[in-house]
Amino acid sequence: MSWHSLLIFAPCTQFQKFSVPVALARPSQFRLLPGVRHRRISPTKTFIQGIVQFHTVIVQCSGVFTLTQTEDSSWKAWSFVTMMDRLSGVVDRFDGHMPFCRPAEWNTAMEYTAVIMGAGQCGLSMAACLENLGISTLVLERSGRIGNSWCFRYDSLETNTPKVFNHLPFVEFPERSGNYTPCRDVADYLEDYQRTLGLHVLTSASISAASYDASSSTWTLSVSLPGQASITVMARYMIVAIGVGTMGGALPFMPSIPGKSSFLGSVIHSSEYKSSSCVGAQNVAVIGAGCSVHDIAQDMATHGSQTALVQRSSTLVLSRQVIDSLLTGNLSALAVKISIDLACRIYQAGCSSDRDR
Ligand SMILES: Cc1cc2nc3c(=O)[nH]c(=O)nc-3n(C[C@H](O)[C@H](O)[C@H](O)COP(=O)(O)OP(=O)(O)OC[C@H]3O[C@@H](n4cnc5c(N)ncnc54)[C@H](O)[C@@H]3O)c2cc1C
Ligand SMILES: NC(=O)c1ccc[n+]([C@@H]2O[C@H](COP(=O)([O-])OP(=O)(O)OC[C@H]3O[C@@H](n4cnc5c(N)ncnc54)[C@H](OP(=O)(O)O)[C@@H]3O)[C@@H](O)[C@H]2O)c1
Repeated sequence: MSWHSLLIFAPCTQFQKFSVPVALARPSQFRLLPGVRHRRISPTKTFIQGIVQFHTVIVQCSGVFTLTQTEDSSWKAWSFVTMMDRLSGVVDRFDGHMPFCRPAEWNTAMEYTAVIMGAGQCGLSMAACLENLGISTLVLERSGRIGNSWCFRYDSLETNTPKVFNHLPFVEFPERSGNYTPCRDVADYLEDYQRTLGLHVLTSASISAASYDASSSTWTLSVSLPGQASITVMARYMIVAIGVGTMGGALPFMPSIPGKSSFLGSVIHSSEYKSSSCVGAQNVAVIGAGCSVHDIAQDMATHGSQTALVQRSSTLVLSRQVIDSLLTGNLSALAVKISIDLACRIYQAGCSSDRDR
């Protein structure tokens, strides 16, 4: 069961009490959406996957169900992944034209309901969803430009999922970006996203202190901006969206390799790689077998380097054709337009069933 399901049915997150919250949530009005898919992945393994929408007492939800055929040919549930779509009765404020917010009035003391640290994909989309609910939100971004992390990545980088799966809420990637979007276009999209929705984002903002006053349920943040007096931001909620794990690759990991210090050639981390022009026609060993390695090795190999990959463990490799067909295949054939919401569900179901398998 996913945390989405727990949230919908069991906000107390006590799995053993699942039956009680289901009764309280009273799921109803189940509706099957068009585009149920039948997938035979081997002569003996067949799946049926489809999407349903339903309501509980307070939220509209949807779920992706996957059924599998057993050896005796009967159908059994494989997974049911649910998502909370929106609170019942909430109408999207963004109508495709008007921004969510009026231009910000930047002052030395500002009050918002929510403050978010980090204007990456997560920070921006969360700000948009909160503003959609009428919750005033300020985003504080350390870097000088929204989307900056995508500007500094290697030139040949394109997203590894089709465009339809990369849209943030409310605003789609523009038509002009290819199906697999170049990293510069992702950076531009994130910047345009803030502009289109009018989100309040302060860039080059360093948070020097944050304290919480429990009696007034208020966060007070001191924020430094270059060449300006520091400002104070008060907010009821503070959300940290500065990246997870390696912060989207922002924190490079360089393993210690015996003999590295006496190696006469240059040693760089993938985060420092820009393009094959920095390397030229040299012999290059590329350590690892993830997405970065394959992109970089291919870039160098097609520009004259002798490239050897050093792979430590096995990797799941999916071609673009397979990804396209797995994620969007039947729906495209049925000419079903894949909305942002629908894409989220298909991707979530794809990830969960692949993980389970
Ligand atoms: C080479 C590469 C290619 C990738 N390709 C894809 C892809 O094709 N598809 C995909 O889905 N994912 C891809 N990813 C992963 C993707 O970049 C991350 O999953 C995604 O960026 C995470 O979003 P986020 O908002 O959580 O974090 P981030 O995008 O890392 O955003 C965090 C933001 O917080 C800011 N910040 C950090 N610290 C502070 C602070 N103290 N105060 C204020 N702001 C702060 C940062 O400047 C940044 O703008 C790729 C990653 C790498 C490295
Ligand atoms: N859009 C794109 O096409 C694209 C491009 C680049 C990155 N990304 C995304 O960015 C994230 C990071 O990807 P990434 O490829 O940079 O990193 P990654 O997925 O963490 O891959 C790192 C690779 O290095 C190997 N490795 C680590 N230490 C090693 C050692 N000491 N010796 C030998 N091999 C070692 C790992 O092998 P083990 O498995 O054995 O640890 C793994 O194969 C992923 O989410 C990825 O999807 C996307």
